[in-house]
Amino acid sequence: MKIIGINASPRKKANTQTLVETIMAGAAEKGAHTRMVNLRELAINGCLGCEGCQKHPGRCVQKDDLTPLLQEMTGYDAIVLGTPVYWFHVTAQFKILVDRLYSFIETTQDPESGEESYTSHFPPGRKMVIVISRGDPEPPLLFPQLYDHLNEWLNVIPLSLGSAQYEFFHQYGAHLDRKSAAHDAVLLKKARTVGADLVIA
Ligand SMILES: Cc1cc2nc3c(=O)[nH]c(=O)nc-3n(C[C@H](O)[C@H](O)[C@H](O)COP(=O)(O)O)c2cc1C
Repeated sequence: MKIIGINASPRKKANTQTLVETIMAGAAEKGAHTRMVNLRELAINGCLGCEGCQKHPGRCVQKDDLTPLLQEMTGYDAIVLGTPVYWFHVTAQFKILVDRLYSFIETTQDPESGEESYTSHFPPGRKMVIVISRGDPEPPLLFPQLYDHLNEWLNVIPLSLGSAQYEFFHQYGAHLDRKSAAHDAVLLKKARTVGADLVIA
């Protein structure tokens, strides 16, 4: 089994990276081949909205580091994505990745009703884990509805990748301590088990 982990935290070796890497380590222990990518090390651009991908679904026209990564992602059996929460949402790096997943979506319109439907050209059946690290506790002290919205929004990702088997892995109460995940033995054990389950379940 081949698994790719993609970390969208701009902070090096901080909570999100620790959790994604620990999930990957749990999978590797069960025999998976793993590869880790830190988006902060890549030169990536936002979606241009050029609709070029609608002429060639599955291919983004941009020539940056993300286009080959999007292609590469299709070759893995499981995908682990991680983002911290920034202002009640994902990081800019993560949002760029999700926006660019649009290149796998083909939009068609029913000629009679005008109704639009969406088909994902990403190879279906990938297992997914989405890791979210946030400073606030659960339940949050402020704006719980914004977190509800974020949790709802995150479902866009497995939908765009045609992935039926996915789960969310949350770290709450990290504050701004980049090592809070690394010091949380219970959380790390949970992450390792999630990784192992990707291979054996
Ligand atoms: C610009 C910025 C905005 C943040 N906004 C939130 C937020 O809205 N809610 C929250 O719970 N934590 C927020 N945080 C805290 C991070 O989510 C938290 O520190 C997380 O563990 C960072 O992940 P990392 O260690 O992988 O970088 C914010 C941090 C930064 C730098």
